[in-house]
Amino acid sequence: MAPMLTWGAWRAQAKAQLPPPTESFAGKTVLITGAKGVVCSEVARILIRLGVGTLVLAVRGIPEGPEGEPALEALLGPSADRSGTRVLVWPLDLLSFDSVKALAARATKELPRLDVVLNGAARSSRDRQLTKEGWEYVHHQGVMVNHLAPALLTLLLLPLLKKTADEHNTTTVAAEIASLGSRMSRSAMPTPPATPATDGTTAYLSAVNAKGDWVSRHQMYGITKLLFCHFLHELAAQLQAPNVQFHSADFGVCKVQKGVNETFKSALPMMYLLGREPEMCANVVVNSCIAHEGAKQSFYVDYDAIGLPDFMADESGVRLQKVVWQETKAVLLKVSPKAYDQVLPKAGASNAVSTEKQDNAGKAEAEVAGGALEESSTGVTA
Ligand SMILES: NC(=O)c1ccc[n+]([C@@H]2O[C@H](COP(=O)([O-])OP(=O)(O)OC[C@H]3O[C@@H](n4cnc5c(N)ncnc54)[C@H](OP(=O)(O)O)[C@@H]3O)[C@@H](O)[C@H]2O)c1
Repeated sequence: MAPMLTWGAWRAQAKAQLPPPTESFAGKTVLITGAKGVVCSEVARILIRLGVGTLVLAVRGIPEGPEGEPALEALLGPSADRSGTRVLVWPLDLLSFDSVKALAARATKELPRLDVVLNGAARSSRDRQLTKEGWEYVHHQGVMVNHLAPALLTLLLLPLLKKTADEHNTTTVAAEIASLGSRMSRSAMPTPPATPATDGTTAYLSAVNAKGDWVSRHQMYGITKLLFCHFLHELAAQLQAPNVQFHSADFGVCKVQKGVNETFKSALPMMYLLGREPEMCANVVVNSCIAHEGAKQSFYVDYDAIGLPDFMADESGVRLQKVVWQETKAVLLKVSPKAYDQVLPKAGASNAVSTEKQDNAGKAEAEVAGGALEESSTGVTA
C-alpha cells in the first residue's frame, strides 16, 4: 500500500482484508505496554492464540495476582482459554521514569528471555504532568508517554533483547505503533536546528513541550508520536546488534476509539468511515512483532515494509531525527546514566552529561519553555 495520505489510500487501507498472522510465538516472551487499550488488548488476544509462552502486560490499574483476574478475564477472556500462556500483569506508569526503570529492572531480573517489546501505549491529552525524577521539568503528557518513557523503556530492555537473541540464536524485536497521520502534524512542529546540540541542552524538546499549551491535541499527539518513531529508527541505526530489529507499524485508523483518540471525537464519523476493525489493526501490529528477514529497521504499512516514509526520510526529517536522538539522550542520561551503555558501550564518559552541563541545560530549558526557539508555521521542511 502506498504511504500516501489521500482519502483513496485511507479508504483502501480501511477496506483491505489482511489474513491473520499465523507465525507461532510458542516459547517466546512478549512485553506489551498499552494492553488495556482497544488495539493492544486485541494484540494480546491474538498472541495468546498464536501460543505465546509468556505475555507481560505492563499496565496501570490492574492488580497483580488473583485480585487482577476479573480485569484480566474482561480483557483476555476466561483463564481456560489462555492456559498455554503465562500472563503476567506488571505495573507501569509511563508518566514516571521511576516506574519505567522499576519495570525494566524487574524484567531483567525475572524474565529468562524477552523476544519482543511492543510500545503500544499512547496518550493524546493536553494536560501537563510534573515529573520529579531526573529531568525536573513539567512535561507535556504526550512527550512523556508517547516519547521519553518508551524511549527509556526500550533502551533499558535492550540488554535482555540482545541476550535473548544471542543465547537462543534468534532475532528479537522492539516495536512501536506509528501513524502516517503524523505527517499532518509536522507543520506544527518547531523547526529543528541545523545541527543537534552536543552540550546536553534540550532546547528542541523543550520547545515541543511548550507547544503542548497551544497547539491542538491531535497535533501534539502526532508530534509526540513522530518523536518516538524517529528515536527508534535512529536507535536502530546506532545499535551494533544485527539480531535486534526495530519496527514501526501503521495500521491506518481504528474504527473503535477509546482513550488515546478521545480528542478526535468530532471526527468520529469520518474515522468510522476510514477506520478498520480493531482485529485488523491488531493483525498489523502482531506482524510487526515478528522478526522478518532483511532490514534491521522497518516501517510497516499493513504487512508491507516501506522503508521510512518520505516525510521522515527527507533532509528535514533526517535533521529532526538527529536532534531528537541527541536531546533525548541528554534527558535520559540524567534519569538513567547507564541507559545508553548498550548503544555506545565504550563511551560512558563521553555519554555522561556533566553536572555543569545539566545545570546549563536546566537554564536553557527554562528559557526555551518561554518560547524563545524559532518556530515555523510551514513546518520543518521550511
Ligand atoms: N486508534 C487509532 O486509530 C490509532 C491510529 C494510529 C496509531 N494508533 C496507535 O495505536 C496504539 C493503540 O491505540 P488505541 O486506540 O488502542 O489506544 P487506547 O485504546 O487509548 O489505549 C492506549 C493505552 O495506553 C495506555 N496509557 C496511557 N497513558 C499511560 C501511562 N501513563 N502509563 C501506562 N499506560 C498508559 C492506556 O492505559 P490506561 O487504560 O491506564 O489509560 C491505554 O491502555 C497507540 O500507540 C496509538 O497511538 C492508534
